[in-house]
Amino acid sequence: MDNKLMLMIPGPTPVPEQVLLAMAKHPMGHRSGDFSEIMAEVTQNLKWLHQTQNDVLILTASGTGAMEAGIINFLSPGDRILVGCNGKFGDRWAEVGQAYGLQVEKITAEWGKPLDTEQFREKLETDTEKTIKAVIVTHSETSTGVLNDLETINRSVKAHGETLIMVDTVTSLGAVNVPVDEWGLDVVGSGSQKGYMIPPGLGFVSVSSKAWQAYATAKLPRYYLDLGKYKKDAAKNTTPFTPPVNMFFGLQVALRMMQAEGLENIFARHQRLTAATRAAVKALGLPLLAPDNAASPAITSVIPDTIDAEKVRSVMKKRFDIALAGGQDHLKGKIFRIGHLGFVCDRDILAAISALEASLLELGYDRFSPGAGVSAAAKVIANA
Ligand SMILES: Cc1ncc(COP(=O)(O)O)c(C=O)c1O
Repeated sequence: MDNKLMLMIPGPTPVPEQVLLAMAKHPMGHRSGDFSEIMAEVTQNLKWLHQTQNDVLILTASGTGAMEAGIINFLSPGDRILVGCNGKFGDRWAEVGQAYGLQVEKITAEWGKPLDTEQFREKLETDTEKTIKAVIVTHSETSTGVLNDLETINRSVKAHGETLIMVDTVTSLGAVNVPVDEWGLDVVGSGSQKGYMIPPGLGFVSVSSKAWQAYATAKLPRYYLDLGKYKKDAAKNTTPFTPPVNMFFGLQVALRMMQAEGLENIFARHQRLTAATRAAVKALGLPLLAPDNAASPAITSVIPDTIDAEKVRSVMKKRFDIALAGGQDHLKGKIFRIGHLGFVCDRDILAAISALEASLLELGYDRFSPGAGVSAAAKVIANA
């Protein structure tokens, strides 16, 4: 049957009907009063989502554009930065730094393991000359499904005193607690097609006053992604360049939905979906890539053991129209990833797990009694 696609990937994530309908309108002028009203509302609600009084700026960009903006606006050529690399996205921020001529030092961990917070502490403590200008951490490393311990790393950053903390929250914002003001996070980047429950196309960056001080002297080149322009125009409830206005209609509705659900409930739902998925996978006898104590709230990576992961994805898609994500780089064919981010509910997990059981059986993997995965997920859901 056509048109029953179920997106269980970490982005783009499913979009609620209210959001789709809100976007199905004629565009309006972005210099109009009507647009300014929307801009004012979404800006306020973005601050709520980020738990901050800092500026939260809206860019026409994907998450990478938001992060690139976050990196280039506050640094100068040759600046020394520390980048946490334990997956595809951490590596990407190191590449961006290199592309802009920064002096990049990586703190690496094996893909599937969390970053070692002690390594950050040691590096920062020994930097008595205060040459480290920024620390970049990917909170939820989507390529592996690992949640890095941002809170602990950030404590070392705060003890250092000078360096900025820049965070990729692309698959953690709106899924797990990211209290920007309480933790004093300077630059926080995210993208619309994730926890926001809207299609791809908007990037978001929150910027602290400490980062704005760095902006004043930062010398890396910038134009379209010059965040100063966005700040100036946001004060007038507009944007420096033509934004995808229909995306703003969707954003307005999605943020209202999030407010109605409440941050605590959103986090609890993601926690429950993660726990149910992991319990189910374990009950099927399949190893998980990320450890229990560093599990991303957005994505669960599964090692399908004796079966080619791409075959599992292929059967899931062909027979059940459920899209799972594959492994990236050296993990291609070795893992598949189940997304549970954004507009995802308990029913989606139960459906995906039962389809997974059927797919595994079709592929000849029978080291579980049918129903074991569904039963494990159901227990987590029932007892939550
Ligand atoms: C953790 C993380 N960072 C950055 C990105 C890049 O975002 P985009 O593809 O929107 O540029 C992604 C995309 O999946 C991501 O998961």
